[in-house]
Amino acid sequence: MTVEKAFYKKVLLKLSGEALMGDRSSGIDPDVVNSIAGEIGEVVALGVQLGVVVGGGNIFRGSEAKTGGIDRTTADYMGMLGTVINSLALQSALEHRGVETRVQSAIEMKEIAEPFIQRRAIRHLEKGRVVIFAGGTGNPYFTTDTAASLRAMEIKAEVIMKATMVEGVYDKDPIKYSDALMFERISYTAMLTKSLKVMDAAAISLCRDHNLPVVVFNLRKPGNIKRVICGQPVGTIVGG
Ligand code: GTP
Repeated sequence: MTVEKAFYKKVLLKLSGEALMGDRSSGIDPDVVNSIAGEIGEVVALGVQLGVVVGGGNIFRGSEAKTGGIDRTTADYMGMLGTVINSLALQSALEHRGVETRVQSAIEMKEIAEPFIQRRAIRHLEKGRVVIFAGGTGNPYFTTDTAASLRAMEIKAEVIMKATMVEGVYDKDPIKYSDALMFERISYTAMLTKSLKVMDAAAISLCRDHNLPVVVFNLRKPGNIKRVICGQPVGTIVGG
């Protein structure tokens, strides 16, 4: 039996809201959340310190609300509230499996979650608790990808693991084009200049400025979270 060892010891996992909805058109699929929680539990058992940022697009997508007559700032706050709902769902699924968690929200709502306090988040991680960062950055006009970059920096993560529905970063949309080619490695600058819509520019620039690598990988393939954490060649590495 091979003993699995973590290659990355402190990680920020970014899950999109859509990742939680499975094959539904919106909302949360409890089976999907449970299976993600199971995979997270496995890597925590390897001694990995794990922070998680969850998006909110399965509940409300701020950037698409214009057509509905909701102004952008309000829509973004609605999206941030969506991330809190998702964070609580993930917390509950993890705790059912005996994985200790804390939810910290960028927008104070003390009855529901702790406020985000950087030093406290680091302490929770040191104690082996998964910290789920809710509420994005707490500001409109920012995405949860940017929140992931920011929190990764704040907890001093070695890497951001960006979960997607495809294998990695491609030269064009692999869902639309069957001849799309996947990169094993790509630079931050190439990501920005080619406008590859995997992460938004603000998030990538922040990673580039602080030399924080991002691994883009397919969440739908069971076991991939652990594979990436164990340093196996999965997905695309975005780096310098
Ligand atoms: P240690 O100090 O390391 O023991 O961490 P801890 O998180 O266990 O300590 P604390 O006594 O601060 O928290 C106990 C529980 O209350 C945990 O589940 C926290 O997530 C929760 N908690 C702490 N602060 C808040 C808050 O402001 N709002 C909410 N809703 N829960 C909180």
